[in-house]
Amino acid sequence: MKNDQGAKKSSTTNTGAKNTSQNNDGLQKRRSTPPLLEKFFMDMMKDIYWAEKHLVEALPEMQKAATTDELQDAFEDHLLATQKHVSRLEKAFRLLGKVPESKKCEAMSGLVEEARSIIKETKEGTMTRDVGLIIAAQKVEHYEIATYGSMVQLARTMDKDDIANLLEKTLWEEEDTDHHLTRIAEFSVNPMADEEDNEERNGEDMSPERRNGQYATSTASMS
Ligand SMILES: [Fe+2]
Repeated sequence: MKNDQGAKKSSTTNTGAKNTSQNNDGLQKRRSTPPLLEKFFMDMMKDIYWAEKHLVEALPEMQKAATTDELQDAFEDHLLATQKHVSRLEKAFRLLGKVPESKKCEAMSGLVEEARSIIKETKEGTMTRDVGLIIAAQKVEHYEIATYGSMVQLARTMDKDDIANLLEKTLWEEEDTDHHLTRIAEFSVNPMADEEDNEERNGEDMSPERRNGQYATSTASMS
């Protein structure tokens, strides 16, 4: 599981922000964006706009379901950041002379459903639930990092530096959130979940799910 949580800035996407200073100069910079690429970029904007708004609805559920105050606080902070990301996208739409518009993001819809099923499949008040919630949240983060990283690069290629700069701020915040979740998992939640497992093996408060093996199966399927 550590591998899933250990993504570093330089490896999150091969089109990420680290390469974004490589603008073209001169004639190439003055050319207009081809309509097909422009439409593709706008579709990506609509997709991530839907995804961010969907996350604003889902994060309070994840916060409420979390066991530890630490993870609840992390989800609360992430909700505030996500609301900011929505506003930033609306500003980007305006800069592009468009009215903000969303298009269902099937990926984010699926990732949120996965988080909800983790809540259903784990026992309330356990550290194992927090392990699952962190993994679910990091899958969301990695999707967003890949999306924003690609969009920043594409915006720069299309000579839309104002849009690229806006989206890059969000990219950095997504990366910070991912790293914060990794720290919570590695130094707090994962060790406590491991300890909780040892206690259950000693016969204390063993859940029905663990007795019949479903718990272990569903946890393994998340990693
Ligand atoms: Fe976001």
